[in-house]
Amino acid sequence: AYPKVSKICCIGAGYVGGPTCTVIASKCTDITVTIVDINESRIAQWNSDSLPIFEPGLEEIVKSRRGQNLFFSTDILKAVKEADLIFISVNTPTKNFGVGKGRAADLKHIEACARLIADHSTSSKIVVEKSTVPVRAAESLSRILKANTKPGVTYQVLSNPEFLAEGTAICDLLNPDRVLIGGEDTEEGQLAIAALSSVYEVWVPKERIITTNTWSSELSKLTANAFLAQRISSINAISAVCEATGADVSEVARAIGMDTRLGPKFLQSSVGFGGSCFQKDLLNLVYISECLNLPEVAEYWQQVLNMNEFQKSRFAKRIVETMFNTITNKKITLLGFAFKKNTGDTRESPAIYIAKYLLEEGAVLQIYDPKVDSKQVFADLSGTLSVNLSEVVTVSKNPYDAAVGSHAIVVCTEWDEFTSLDYERMYSRMLKPAFVFDGRKILNHKKLIDIGFHVETIGCKL
Ligand code: NAD
Ligand code: UGA
Repeated sequence: AYPKVSKICCIGAGYVGGPTCTVIASKCTDITVTIVDINESRIAQWNSDSLPIFEPGLEEIVKSRRGQNLFFSTDILKAVKEADLIFISVNTPTKNFGVGKGRAADLKHIEACARLIADHSTSSKIVVEKSTVPVRAAESLSRILKANTKPGVTYQVLSNPEFLAEGTAICDLLNPDRVLIGGEDTEEGQLAIAALSSVYEVWVPKERIITTNTWSSELSKLTANAFLAQRISSINAISAVCEATGADVSEVARAIGMDTRLGPKFLQSSVGFGGSCFQKDLLNLVYISECLNLPEVAEYWQQVLNMNEFQKSRFAKRIVETMFNTITNKKITLLGFAFKKNTGDTRESPAIYIAKYLLEEGAVLQIYDPKVDSKQVFADLSGTLSVNLSEVVTVSKNPYDAAVGSHAIVVCTEWDEFTSLDYERMYSRMLKPAFVFDGRKILNHKKLIDIGFHVETIGCKL
């Protein structure tokens, strides 16, 4: 039998590894949790007063457990050697080279972890796939481990995908809808599942911990993200119909959301979804389907991504069209740069798409986001553009500075603070006619029109 888990190592101190293992450390104070990463500056930040990621509630928990039973380290070998359970929470980005370029998941970091674990372990381990991976990835992981096993050492590989959303990670982790654990249908596999389950059982009701075979677990993660993204693309598709007909997508969403079979969540029409995972995981699902010779399935899920591109481009085009078909040298205020509220994460943020589109049309951007700094904005916008960024992009410390001399406000992120800004004050600083493009449907449009703004939004004609 597996002894009780007493030392956990988490490889990858990112948006998943950091919050997940911090919560485990806070709930299981008898377990020593060490989160390791090859990125030295990220680990230094985890050990400092300013954490590398912003997540509501995270800082308090880190501070209460750090140095007690929670450690952040670059000494990966030591942590791996000592651990009886290892989470692999490294990034699994879309491949940008070779076979499957632009679609398949790049598993090089996962494989590096497997080889490192195999080379340095002197005791048996439960190795847990926390990263999102293609179905059957655990098989490769197992094979690498087993082909390099030292005498007396055994491995059990589990799949334990993470379902947290950024911005609500701590709540999601403290009170998950479910915890999913996949493992082998052997005695050792079941014992390993029980060992991992016992960690979660400290705070998660047992009926919410579900166990499956490994492949179902891996595929459930891709499926969950595909369904969530599909819901957004579905409501966004309807938003285009609303704009053309006079229906209001918020009213449609409310009406369909009251059907208990559909439910009210995830029906917020927007400028399009962003974030590091929806696109990556859908591309991965499309690629897997193609490899399995299921082109109709691949095409079906590809359409969710196509609709998202359509939504982003529709919104960007509308900005230019509404502003008399030219925005050359016009200052435009972008409110929000993160891919959603309550995070500083900008990966695949629709704001990046909108900003690049407007810059290519010759606009000058004044950007404000409460949690994204100017270094990040410039990093995200650099590369493809033909303009000298420092001449055409300013990142402001507050929204009122960002409105000075501007023709239009474009809301890209649904930060709560944007709903309570003094829009009279914003208006007074702007050129006239002054425009608002609310890409998140969060502002009081009637009030803005009364102030004098020309307002455009998603999914309804004003
Ligand atoms: P991230 O980029 O924030 O963090 C990954 C970390 O792993 C990085 O700090 C990187 O330096 C480190 N790393 C990479 N290779 C390493 C190695 N060989 N040894 C040690 N450290 C290494 O990524 P993330 O957002 O935390 O996502 C991680 C995984 O979790 C992905 O597969 C993702 O799909 C999945 N996931 C993410 C979320 C989310 O909300 N971000 C939610 C659920 C699942
Ligand atoms: C998403 C899933 O919600 C998590 O369950 C999953 O674990 C995670 O991906 C992952 O695998 O990485 P996340 O991307 O952090 O989480 O955030 P979401 O709340 O899902 O939002 C994603 C994007 O969709 C954001 O740009 C958001 O603004 C947009 N969105 C969301 C909408 O446009 N409308 C909605 O109704 C909901």
